[in-house]
Amino acid sequence: MKSVYLPVVVAFGSTVYSAPSSTAPWTAPGTTDVRGPCPMLNTLANHGFLPHTGKGITVNKTIDALGTALNIDSALSVELFNFAVTTNPTPNSTYFDLNDLSRHNILEHDGSLSRQDAYFGPPDVFNEAVFNQTKSYWTGDTITVQMASNARVARLMTSNLTNPEYSLSDLGSAFSIGESGAYVAILGDKVSGTVPKAWVEYLFENERLPYELGFTKAKEPFVADDLGDMMNRIVAAEHFPQSPGKVAVDKRSVGRCPYH
Ligand code: HEM
Repeated sequence: MKSVYLPVVVAFGSTVYSAPSSTAPWTAPGTTDVRGPCPMLNTLANHGFLPHTGKGITVNKTIDALGTALNIDSALSVELFNFAVTTNPTPNSTYFDLNDLSRHNILEHDGSLSRQDAYFGPPDVFNEAVFNQTKSYWTGDTITVQMASNARVARLMTSNLTNPEYSLSDLGSAFSIGESGAYVAILGDKVSGTVPKAWVEYLFENERLPYELGFTKAKEPFVADDLGDMMNRIVAAEHFPQSPGKVAVDKRSVGRCPYH
């Protein structure tokens, strides 16, 4: 099944770029380094798979980093890059910086698993209270598709009920589903749809790959269809007639009682 998350594939010419080693050491971001709302891309920059500065990420750097660190297939990496580059405020850019991803309602969306909504403050940095809510739905040592789905729905519901400017576009909704599918299937096992909870918590809380806990990248490449499959499983685990959370327009202009 084709991924609904990643409709665009563009072939880019390849240029020579030397990929970092598959066990690049970790160092915390420095004061001039930039980071963004994606815990995995921040992690890859901390390890040096992506530029440690978090700046100037081209398509080839994306392919190399995602392939070397996570065995993500190059076509999927190109698709993700094509979304990422739309967040660079300079038109026709050929790169993005990690903090470009923080611009609200391009890719960054409400109802995140570990970040507050932009309405409440900066949506790019880890937020313990938000992540505690997410963690409360990971009720075993192994996170299943059902637990991941429950956590995602709970975060969307909480944002919807507490944020007067809550919104979630179709693209934001697809990213939200894809992100939950990604931590299960890319850190964990795409066939069983399970991942050790300790690995996921370690990644979010430290922005570091959980090598010390036993993580190794998958032997088989992770392709767009794998992501589409995992997204379908995340949505199928919801106990709703349709995926919740999508609100394409300003919530203040809709949903008012028609009799008052
Ligand atoms: C070029 C590749 C990628 C791009 C452009 C990207 C972009 C983003 C963006 C913009 C967000 C913020 C969404 C929000 O508002 O919550 C995000 C979150 C997230 N990303 Fe990535 N991402 C990429 C690769 C990955 C990979 C490979 C993983 C694998 C695990 C991943 C896992 C996540 C997770 C779990 C979140 C949710 C964070 C939260 O809700 O607090 N991402 N990503």
